[in-house]
Amino acid sequence: MKGIVLAGGSGSRLHPVTLAVSKQLLPVGDKPMVYYPLSVLMLAGIRDILIISTPAELPRFRRLFGDGSGLGLRIGYAEQHRPGGIAEALLIGAAFIGGDPVALVLGDNVFHGTSFSALLQRECADLRGCVLFGYRVGDPERYGVAEVDAAGRLLSLEEKPSRPRSDRAVTGLYLYDGDAVGIARGLRPSARGELEITDLNRVYLERGAARMVDLGRGFAWLDTGTPESLLKAGQYVLTLEERQSIRIACIEEIALRMGYIGADECFALGARLATSAYGRYVMDIAREFGAEAAVPRL
Ligand code: DAU
Repeated sequence: MKGIVLAGGSGSRLHPVTLAVSKQLLPVGDKPMVYYPLSVLMLAGIRDILIISTPAELPRFRRLFGDGSGLGLRIGYAEQHRPGGIAEALLIGAAFIGGDPVALVLGDNVFHGTSFSALLQRECADLRGCVLFGYRVGDPERYGVAEVDAAGRLLSLEEKPSRPRSDRAVTGLYLYDGDAVGIARGLRPSARGELEITDLNRVYLERGAARMVDLGRGFAWLDTGTPESLLKAGQYVLTLEERQSIRIACIEEIALRMGYIGADECFALGARLATSAYGRYVMDIAREFGAEAAVPRL
């Protein structure tokens, strides 16, 4: 299975901050926002990943992750010249996807919840059609909205409806079988001139091939779209991390726990960041897994 992180767009709701730097590179707590969606793909067991961003911002992502080999991943990069819609990611990534199933995640979506990794791996292993992840929110009109019947079957999908039929937002994580690129090729741009992901999902729905998995109570899907929500997301992460002495979306730790890298490699990644608490955490985790507790060279 392939994975795509879509991290373009103009981030205009966060201007002037995002005049200087991409929204998806802003900090959420102690790490760049893009670590969260990247960790979602890693936890799903996906190691072939394409990061899509604007020509101006792409070099910054490359500087952060390189070719991904340090994390036991294969990371490639592709440009989106203008925000042509979320579904355009499937066209930009068509050669990379190459007919395989694909998980598409938005670079500004922050997920956190217990057993998420197991849930993702189950859904990816069993994938037919498309799988969407629903989340109950108080302001569904700001999102794609899914209507489901009592048995949990998906009835309708609408993008930012003024009168939502339910309070189920469609989150920015989409799992697709090998048909997604073909469907994206057949989409017509919306009035905004974009290839809308909701239109693509609706094609799956009309084929009877779309399913929704509810992310229930106790699960966090955090908004990062405004200065206030961005700050709150960061506080959520820091609060949990301090209380439990763990880190959320620590990609080095995930690479280690998923078996993508060994303890010594993980230790070396942490040692490079040893002046920060994040780096020291990575080194501690690596030691727990048996890494040589060498004194890092700073
Ligand atoms: O976050 C979930 C929501 O994401 C879904 O509920 C909606 O159905 C979906 O349309 C999307 O809504 P947004 O209002 O968040 O879409 P936005 O245009 O803000 O784009 C979301 C992210 O994707 C944002 O970080 C920028 C990036 N993006 C977006 C577009 C349209 C791109 O990189 N390229 C694009 O062309």
